[in-house]
Amino acid sequence: MKIRVLGSAAGGGFPQWNCNCANCDGLRRGTIRAQARTQSSIALTQNEQDWALVNASPDILAQIRALPGLQPARAIRDTGIASVLLMDAQIDHVTGLLMLRERNSPLPLYATAQVIEDLSRGLTVLGALEHYCGTDRHLIDPGTAFTLPHLSDVELLPITLSSKAPPYSPHRQDPHPGDNIGLRILDRASGRQAFYAPGLGELSAEVESAMREADVLLIDGTFWREDEMIALGLSKKTAAEMGHLPQSGPGGMIEVLDRMPAARKILIHINNSNPILREDGDERALLHAHGIEVAHDGMEILL
Ligand code: MLT
Ligand code: MN
Ligand code: ZN
Repeated sequence: MKIRVLGSAAGGGFPQWNCNCANCDGLRRGTIRAQARTQSSIALTQNEQDWALVNASPDILAQIRALPGLQPARAIRDTGIASVLLMDAQIDHVTGLLMLRERNSPLPLYATAQVIEDLSRGLTVLGALEHYCGTDRHLIDPGTAFTLPHLSDVELLPITLSSKAPPYSPHRQDPHPGDNIGLRILDRASGRQAFYAPGLGELSAEVESAMREADVLLIDGTFWREDEMIALGLSKKTAAEMGHLPQSGPGGMIEVLDRMPAARKILIHINNSNPILREDGDERALLHAHGIEVAHDGMEILL
């Protein structure tokens, strides 16, 4: 099977529309070595015709244009997007659902009960969609593996993550398993597995073991520093308050990845403030020395 990175940036994308940090401003002016990135989503396929989107990014229309395979053109109205799976109810992972409203059948949607609740009561995307294509909802549970009709050789296992429900979630201050999940993607044909977790705040024993078993890690690359947003004057929130483990420092993601045997260790969901976006920067060189890659839009991984 194939995993394609549709969007490798965190919320806001890179450059972010209202941001003049050194990265966003430098990219716009062409004075730094870096590539633009759209907001967080990956797609899975077995046959290059039917795809499962994991997260529906606000940039989904641009992402569809960038991947012709998502439009197989078998009928006057058609799509290669056979289903959508959600990892959480964050704006950068769900608002693209609204762009899929012109479908001529209900959108097959796989999400936890908590995410369905957030999208029914907090950010009422699902209620709005009922006035258009509607959704064909499938509840998924952390710890219970499932398959998708068009990805029958792939076993998907949701794993509870310690991160944060979105600010508009009815249970923002009262975390529940299922607010945020990671996904173990097991290709039964090759026996290889990937672990995808774009928002990871802390490592539980379960996450640690899923990461250890993975051949490919696609893991939270949001921030380099715990106080990154504060130091740059962009926000008052720490990485931990936003549910993200930064890469640098004691207990950071570089240390975590150093103890993982995975053949590929890829950071994804990268915030525009993160210095690892600079291809010729010291931080990128340090990642390289640790065998860690930085995801980019269009990256493909064969499992
Ligand atoms: C996050 O994961 O913390 C988000 O990218 C923030 C956002 O979308 O505003
Ligand atoms: Mn995000
Ligand atoms: Zn910026």
